[in-house]
Amino acid sequence: MLEFLDRRGSNCHKYDSLKERFGRDDILPMWVADADYAVPDTILLAIKNRASHPIFGYTRYDEMFFKAIKSWYARRFEWDIDREWILPAQGVVVSINTAIEAFTDVDDGVIIQTPIYPPFFKSIKRHSRKVLDNTLIFKDGKFQIDFDDLEKKAQKAKMLLLCSPHNPTGRVFTLDELKNIADIANRYDLIVVSDEIHSDIILEGKHISIASLANMKDRTITLHAPSKTFNIASLNTSFVIIENDSLRRKFLSFQHKTGLDDGNCFGIEALKAAYTEESEKWLEELLVFLKNSRDMAVDMLNRVNGIKAIPAEATYLLWLDCTDTGMSDDELKNFFVDEAKVGLNEGISFGEAGSGYMRLNFACSTDILKEALGRVDDAMKRRLNED
Ligand SMILES: Cc1ncc(COP(=O)(O)O)c(C=O)c1O
Repeated sequence: MLEFLDRRGSNCHKYDSLKERFGRDDILPMWVADADYAVPDTILLAIKNRASHPIFGYTRYDEMFFKAIKSWYARRFEWDIDREWILPAQGVVVSINTAIEAFTDVDDGVIIQTPIYPPFFKSIKRHSRKVLDNTLIFKDGKFQIDFDDLEKKAQKAKMLLLCSPHNPTGRVFTLDELKNIADIANRYDLIVVSDEIHSDIILEGKHISIASLANMKDRTITLHAPSKTFNIASLNTSFVIIENDSLRRKFLSFQHKTGLDDGNCFGIEALKAAYTEESEKWLEELLVFLKNSRDMAVDMLNRVNGIKAIPAEATYLLWLDCTDTGMSDDELKNFFVDEAKVGLNEGISFGEAGSGYMRLNFACSTDILKEALGRVDDAMKRRLNED
């Protein structure tokens, strides 16, 4: 059963870093991508069991860890992966950095599709590689890939950093879209790093791992984790799937180089518990809840003057087009924080393409979501009456 908790005082960024992040703490946090729901009992029990043996020394990834991932992929994504293809890792962002280091050189071009989760462009820049921005285009009510532009950028690139499903637009890429990406990747010999951290939270359509397409197995690095879905981000446990032997060996050697190859004893137990059939039932319940929350949020926000919510096909994040408000990015930030008293992520932090947008996290209780949406509506009405 889904349970929502008051997280204040647990040192969580979402509630306890409000003052540092927004300059005030009397606001409702609808920002960073983690949730207010408790983990399923299966995970809690696994962690308690592990804690009952009070030594937390260096821990190996046991065979059950790999089996759990393999079974999850077969059940959820109909992709039959080999145990050997799986490399355990800490965070997904860590693996993005490892992949950039392993498969590109200084000044190489790396394609991203903005607006995008900020560590994508930050990681490229930090390694002195070139960001090639294949900006998404808004067409037929959805953010879509500009394939002509992708083809042009691919000629100058070594790698595509794909976010599938896409944060912040909530897109679930279709088989046709993935096939088009795959054709371009093959034509221009691109390595594709596919961040699929949101792939369990599918509200519309079906997630397909691009690596499962026949012509992608020798050029794809897939990144995933139970952290978003099951709200266990601080356990720092994720994994990488690489079918091609030499790519996998190279990635592994760079993991060793950074010394980031040790496991978290609680994270390992949590992943094994997360990927069971019992937790899957909990996930189905979560998906129904999130879909209802998304529909309610889209409906309420679309009644607010100047705001258009783009219905997310995946994730618990809503991308809000606020361009019709006529506010600058700074004005938008101040409007949400100081007038509406809600803390969202500023669209501009997802790249220039996010200018005029805001991102709202709806993974909270229905009461909190209603309160936040009501505050936005009231604040906009106050603002319009004053003008
Ligand atoms: C697309 C995407 N990748 C990676 C992460 C973070 O992953 P990790 O905490 O495993 O580094 C997030 C978190 O919001 C995300 O949205």
